[in-house]
Parts: sequence; structure tokens; C-alpha cells
Amino acid sequence: MPVLEVRNLHKVYRSDGVEVHALRGIDLQVESGEFVAVMGPSGCGKSTLLHLLAGLDLPTEGEVFVQGQPVHQLSESQRARLRRRIIGFVFQSFNLIPNLTVADNVDMPALLAGRAADEVARERDRLLQRLGLAEKRDAFPAHLSGGEQQRVAIARALINHPTVLLADEPTGNLDTRSGMEVLNLLRQFHQEGQTIVLVTHDPKVASFARRVVFMRDGRFVSEMALPEPGDASRILAELLAIA
Ligand SMILES: Nc1ncnc2c1ncn2[C@@H]1O[C@H](COP(=O)(O)OP(=O)(O)O)[C@@H](O)[C@H]1O
Ligand SMILES: [Mg+2]
Repeated sequence: MPVLEVRNLHKVYRSDGVEVHALRGIDLQVESGEFVAVMGPSGCGKSTLLHLLAGLDLPTEGEVFVQGQPVHQLSESQRARLRRRIIGFVFQSFNLIPNLTVADNVDMPALLAGRAADEVARERDRLLQRLGLAEKRDAFPAHLSGGEQQRVAIARALINHPTVLLADEPTGNLDTRSGMEVLNLLRQFHQEGQTIVLVTHDPKVASFARRVVFMRDGRFVSEMALPEPGDASRILAELLAIA
């Protein structure tokens, strides 16, 4: 069974009498351990798709299953619980809580999930160590670089061992070097079995995945496997072919 399955997903935004058809029939299956990049230009519906996968919003039509659970049929509180337990989310803008320390930001989802504080602290310290943030444990987000903030956000997203990690343009606000650090860390977690779905408009970023799905105007138009990660040239060639 795929860990993530989407069937005929549509999303229409309505505001002030204006309708935007952001998703126009998306089908997607992600197997356990996959690293998938959804690649497409700004405005094609990537963030909308990730928000629906995470249960942050509901589709206008279609179905979303995470680990067999019908996200589209759950209440808001059930979706919040699902997000805490089996989904990790990394945003372009980090979204850390400014008045909490690094440690408290990372602990938050675990404590909300009802886990024991001492166990959470041990695991958080291990994660921070791994992400090169051991020295920053008691710092506040405003005192960290963008790259450090995003690594804290990754620790927060992974603390509850999510079935799937969703990342929305995770390097979009970072300089090239910090971006590469973040992508290399994601690749390491993937190599240890973490399922990841990342969305980006950047071929170089998409090249860190092992499967790339190309999106245009709310639809998937093409797909490729990347046997060798890090090769953006095939992605660029495909972009030219579908343009
Ligand atoms: N909350 C919203 N209300 C109205 N329109 C929206 C909303 N969010 C996104 N859109 C529109 O939906 C389309 C897809 O947006 P989005 O999913 O953010 O694309 P991407 O992440 O690929 O840039 C765009 O036309 C955008 O303007
Ligand atoms: Mg977006």
C-alpha cells in the first residue's frame, strides 16, 4: 500500500466572487521510502497540493490518503492529530515560534502528541547534534541564520518520526550554500528510509530527489526517475521538452 495516495484532486479557491482553479485532477502515489520532487513554475499549484496532502486544507473534489487514512474525510481536529503523528511539514519561511527557544520549538509537536518530556529531550538533543545545532539549543529563532532556522524546522518536522516529510520550497529563502546543506541533510534522512515529498521551481533542488513529477497549471504533465541524484541536466532537458 502506498504511504500517500491522491486521486483526482481538485482545488478551487473562491474569494470576492473570483474563482481560481488551482488543482485540476492530480493523481499521485508515493511508496514508503521514496524521495519525490514536484517541480513546476510559480503559481502552478505546488503549495496547494502540499497543503492538501498535509490536511492543512480540504480539496474541492478528490481523495487524499496518508497511510490509508482518508484525510479529506477527517474533521479539523482529527487532521491536526494526523499532522502531529504522521506528517512532518517544512515551510519556505521556516515558521518557527519566535518566543520559544530552539529546543522548545523542536519539542512542541512531541509534547503535544503526549510523549514523555525526558524521552523527547533526549531525542531532540540527538537530532540537533545531527543537524549541527547542538550549540544553538537555547537560542531564539531571531538569533539564527536562515539555514540554521530551516534545520531547526527540519528537526521539529522529524521529532515524531513522520510517515512522510513534506517540504515546500525548503531552500527558497536560503543562500546557495545553506540550501545545499539543507538538501544534503534531506538526502541523508531519505537514505535512512525517510519518505519525502518536496516541491520546488528549481531544477537543482529537484535533482536531489529520486523521482521528479512535472506540474503545469494544476496538472501533472510528465514524470521521470533519477537513478543518479544531483543531475539537474536531465530535468532541464525535460523542462524544455514540455515547455
Ligand atoms: N488562499 C488562496 N486564495 C485564492 N487563491 C489562491 C490561494 N492560494 C493560492 N491561490 C492561487 O492558486 C494558484 C496556485 O497557487 P500555489 O498553490 O500557491 O502555487 P505555487 O506554490 O506553485 O506557486 C495561484 O493562482 C494562486 O494565486
Ligand atoms: Mg508555493
